[in-house]
Amino acid sequence: MSTTSTFVQSKEAEGNGQDLFHRHIFVEGQGDSTDTTRSNSPIDAKLQTSKQNVLLLHAAREKYKLIEDHAIPTLIHNGEILVKVLAIGLNPIDWKAPAFNFGIPALPWINGRDFAGVVVQVSNESSRVRAGDIVLVPSTDYRDIRKAAFQEYAVATHYNAARIPSTTSINEAASLGVAFVASTLALGVSFGLDFSTISGGAKGPNLPQVLKNTDINEIPEDIREECFSSAPESERIQRGDWLAIWGASTTTGYITLQIAKLCGLKVICVADVARHGAKLLDAGADLLVDRHNTERAVEIIRGVTGGRLRFGLDIVGKDTAALLQNALFRSEDDGPQAHLLGLTGIPKEQDPRIHYHTVPIKLFHTSPAVGESMVTWLEGLLQTESIKLPEVVHAKGGLAGVNDALDILREGSVSGKRIVVGLDSQA
Ligand SMILES: NC(=O)c1ccc[n+]([C@@H]2O[C@H](COP(=O)([O-])OP(=O)(O)OC[C@H]3O[C@@H](n4cnc5c(N)ncnc54)[C@H](OP(=O)(O)O)[C@@H]3O)[C@@H](O)[C@H]2O)c1
Repeated sequence: MSTTSTFVQSKEAEGNGQDLFHRHIFVEGQGDSTDTTRSNSPIDAKLQTSKQNVLLLHAAREKYKLIEDHAIPTLIHNGEILVKVLAIGLNPIDWKAPAFNFGIPALPWINGRDFAGVVVQVSNESSRVRAGDIVLVPSTDYRDIRKAAFQEYAVATHYNAARIPSTTSINEAASLGVAFVASTLALGVSFGLDFSTISGGAKGPNLPQVLKNTDINEIPEDIREECFSSAPESERIQRGDWLAIWGASTTTGYITLQIAKLCGLKVICVADVARHGAKLLDAGADLLVDRHNTERAVEIIRGVTGGRLRFGLDIVGKDTAALLQNALFRSEDDGPQAHLLGLTGIPKEQDPRIHYHTVPIKLFHTSPAVGESMVTWLEGLLQTESIKLPEVVHAKGGLAGVNDALDILREGSVSGKRIVVGLDSQA
């Protein structure tokens, strides 16, 4: 008997009867719609050939090349899953890494940080994620080529995959993973924001507490200091505190703003107000400050916060981080300090009265406890529609269209939106 696999979007009541997630129904027997069965061992014609299409980077400053007979990655560790990629979300790093020759562990290499797709294999049947689930995966573990997004099949760990509800489109789901991880770790770990204080159904983890209960050896040495930097409770950001985001119109800024608002922070958004102001207000911004007159922007932030701003997050670069630094409070005694996190770099000239942070992004994939707490929270946020997803621009051409889409991203003409490349006509 020959077998085929058909993509069907379905709703299925999960354990508690409430949660609705996308699932994939596998069909046996020449596409006969009356012969529909749900299977835990999905059948996928391409998977059986062990070969797939991938985009390979052969050298820095070169375009990605489409390769059609690359091996499909295999599961080698317990807890890993294989995902058939249906949509890829493009991040600035996807063009910056080859252009500036960083973040490429070896050559040739496969890149790509955000994808959504259907789980086609699991190594542990009892895990939260099962074959047939539609998941989004922020692929922060870029040193493991099996986990890259620019391929038809990618490996993930179950604790880095969030099941997406049937109300969320697969393309939208591919747009927010890395932004969510960066926002959550910046606010939750570096600034110590407690996501369990959210009122309503989308409570998140208290990450300083999760870290306290984590085996220290699970945390890479180079990020340990950052992971415990918010250990003193007096230093943590609290409900009612001001947070300034420089670059609030970035996808990461947009997600950070919304999470901060869920937790009761007052948020100042520095962005092109004419272009992005309406969207940022709609997402809850308390104050919009235009980014084009930077000196005036610093004065406004200082004026509105009475010079007491303790938390700043820069999502643009070293220069804007230095500007944001000028808007921060400087403690002259032993009281709580100001904290500045630079997502793309911290200022060259630093002030000893300010605590500087870099986001401990690899914590997401090195600590199962942290990763799992974050993806289960993300599932809850999506199910309860507690966050608005980034606006998506669809790029055509599948993997072959990625180079052109990255050129558009690099030019900056698609601003405040995520470019998503579909690999499946039904994505
Ligand atoms: N360290 C990490 O692990 C990590 C994780 C995630 C992201 N990042 C980095 O964070 C940055 C943002 O990433 P993303 O994916 O969120 O970006 P994105 O969605 O592509 O953001 C682009 C936005 O940046 C805004 N922008 C450009 N120059 C600006 C300026 N001088 N001041 C204020 N806004 C400005 C643009 O707005 P206009 O319309 O005003 O031009 C545009 O809306 C990237 O550099 C990325 O590599 C780092």
